[in-house]
Amino acid sequence: MTKNMCGIFGYVGKQGNAAEIVFDGLKLLEYRGYDSWGIAVKVKSSKLKVQSDVGKNRFIVEKHVGKIGDAVLNSQFLAINSNLGIGHTRWATHGGVTVANAHPHLDCTKTVAVIHNGIIENFSEIKKKLLKMGHKFRSETDTEVFAHLIEQYLTKEGFTSAVRDAFNQLRGLSAFLVAYSPSGELVAAKTGSPLVVGVGDNEFFVASDAIGILKHTKKVIFLEDDQMVILGKNIRLLELPWGKEINPKYNILEWKFEGAKKGKFEHFLLKEIYEQPRVIKNIALNYSSETKNLASLIEKAFGTFMLGCGTASYAALFGTYLFSKIAKKHINFSIGSEFNYLESYLTSKSLVIPISQSGETIDVVEPIEKAKERGAKIAAIVNVLGSTLYRQADYKILLGAGSEKAVVGTKSLIAMISVLLLTAYAYVGREDLGKKLLLKTAKNVEDILRDSFIAEIKKLAQELKNKEHIYVIGRGLSYAAALEATLKIKETSYIHAEGFAGGELKHGVIALIEKNTPCIVMASNDQTYDDIVSNAQEIKARGGLIVGIGPKDNEVFDRFIETQDLKEATIIPQIVISQLLAYYLALERGIVDPDKPRNLAKSVTVK
Ligand code: AGP
Repeated sequence: MTKNMCGIFGYVGKQGNAAEIVFDGLKLLEYRGYDSWGIAVKVKSSKLKVQSDVGKNRFIVEKHVGKIGDAVLNSQFLAINSNLGIGHTRWATHGGVTVANAHPHLDCTKTVAVIHNGIIENFSEIKKKLLKMGHKFRSETDTEVFAHLIEQYLTKEGFTSAVRDAFNQLRGLSAFLVAYSPSGELVAAKTGSPLVVGVGDNEFFVASDAIGILKHTKKVIFLEDDQMVILGKNIRLLELPWGKEINPKYNILEWKFEGAKKGKFEHFLLKEIYEQPRVIKNIALNYSSETKNLASLIEKAFGTFMLGCGTASYAALFGTYLFSKIAKKHINFSIGSEFNYLESYLTSKSLVIPISQSGETIDVVEPIEKAKERGAKIAAIVNVLGSTLYRQADYKILLGAGSEKAVVGTKSLIAMISVLLLTAYAYVGREDLGKKLLLKTAKNVEDILRDSFIAEIKKLAQELKNKEHIYVIGRGLSYAAALEATLKIKETSYIHAEGFAGGELKHGVIALIEKNTPCIVMASNDQTYDDIVSNAQEIKARGGLIVGIGPKDNEVFDRFIETQDLKEATIIPQIVISQLLAYYLALERGIVDPDKPRNLAKSVTVK
C-alpha cells in the first residue's frame, strides 16, 4: 500500500508540449515529496520511435527514482507532441522507492493514467477481485488499483461515470488525477489532500498547490472534498457521490510568481529567513483589524484552544504564555495530533485556533473537523489561501508571508508569532504598543541579517559542526524558542538536539552533560533571567559549553549572541539566530540541499 504525501500536476489544453509543462510544474511542487517522480503524456500520433512502441491514443510514461529538481527530461519524451499529461513527485511511506512504484500508474490498455495523494484503505480487497478478472498489475501500490477499477467500469459505461463509480468504491482520504487518452479528458476528484484547478484560455491545469499553477494563470478553483471536476474542451464540476452538476467558485490569486524563485540566494531557506523583516512589518502595519477581531472572538469564547504541529505548535505554545502575560487570559495549548484525545469538553461556546503554514496538516485538519461537529467556532491562522484549514474555518487570518518553499518553516513561524503578539496587545486595547514593538523587532532582525552579525553565527557553526549533541534551554516565553531552535538544528543539520524548559534540567537531562557539551541558553531580560542563568551555571559546572542568546550578557556565557531587549518579542530574534545557526551548521556539515531535508516533506497530509 502506498500512503503518500506528494506533488500532483496535470495539463490539458491547446498547447502541444504537455510533457514540458508538467515537468516544470512538478519541479515547483518538489518540496511536497522528493524520492521519485513520473510523467505520462498522451501519444497523439506515432511519428517518433518512442511513440510507435506505445501506439496511437495511448499513454507513454517516464518514471525515475530521485529528485526531479536535479533531473533533465529525456529529449525524445520532451519532443512528444501532446496536449494531455499528468505528473507526480512522491514521498513514500508504504511500498519501496522504486521506478515501478513511482506514479503515474496505467491500466492494462494504457489508456487510463492515474496519480494519487493519500490512502486507499480497501485497496487489497479490490485488487483481489480485479486479479480474478484477469487484470495485470505492474506495481505494489494501492494507487494502481484505481486505474484498473476505472478500466473495469469502462467496459460498461463512459469515462466520467466510470471514474465516479470507481471513486465511490474507495475508502480513505485521497486526491486523484485521472487522464483518459481516447477522450483527451482530465478528471480530478478528492476526499482529502489539496487540489487546485487553474483555468487558462482554452487550457486547464491541476496541482496539489496553487504555487504550481501561478506561472500559467491566477484564476483558480479550490476543489472541495467529495467533488469531481472534468476538464477537456470545457469544465464541469460535479458533487459526489451522485455526480450532481454544480457551479464552480473561482478565486483570483494575488500572489506574484517570482515568489517561487531563489533570486540571489543559494537556497530558499536563506531567502525566506531574509524575508522576515518584511513579513513582521507587514503584520505590524496591516493587521490591526484582523487581530482585533481575533481578540474579540477570544474574549467572547468560553474556553480557547490553540493547536498546531511541529514548528506551528511552538507558535501555539508561545500564544498561551503570551496571553497569560499580556492579557491575563488563560488559553489552552495542544499539539495537533493529540487534540483528538482532548476535545471531549468542547462546546458551541468554545473557540479553537488551529495554526498552520500549509493549512493541510492532517493532524490539525482532522481534529478541527471533529471540533466543528461539536459546534466549536474555528479561527484559523494559516499561510495558504484556499487550503483545507482556511476553508474549514469560520474566521481566517492569512499570514501573508508568501509561498514558503523550503521544507523547514521559518518566515511562516515569525508571521504566526507576530500575529499572536499583536492580538494579545489588541486584547488589552494596546495594539499601538504591539505595533511599535513589532516594528522595533523587524529593525533588530534586519541588524541580525547584516554580514558582520552573520559572521559571528558562521563562527559558532564552525565551532559546533562536529558536535554529536546540542541542548537548548529556555523558560517562560523563551521555552518555545528553545523548542524551535532544537527542531531547526535537527531537521536542517541532522545533529541530535534536545530542547527543554530550563527547570526540567535537574530532573534528568543534566545526566547527559559532559565536558564541552554545547548548551544554547535562551536568556530573555524578564522574570526568567536569573533562573535560566542559574540553570546555565549548573550545566557549566559539569563542563558544558554555554552559548547565551538574548539582550543581556553574563559571565556564565562562553559565547554570547546579542539581541535587542524586545520584551515579549525577544523570542523573534532568538529564533532568527537559531534558524541561521541551523542553516550554517548544515553548510558546514556538507549538506547539499538544506531546502529538502531527508525523510521530510513540506505538508504532512497523512497521519
Ligand atoms: C517545519 O520546519 C517542520 N518541517 C514541520 O514541523 C512543520 O512545522 C509541521 O509539519 C507543521 O506544518 P504546517 O505549519 O504546514 O501545519
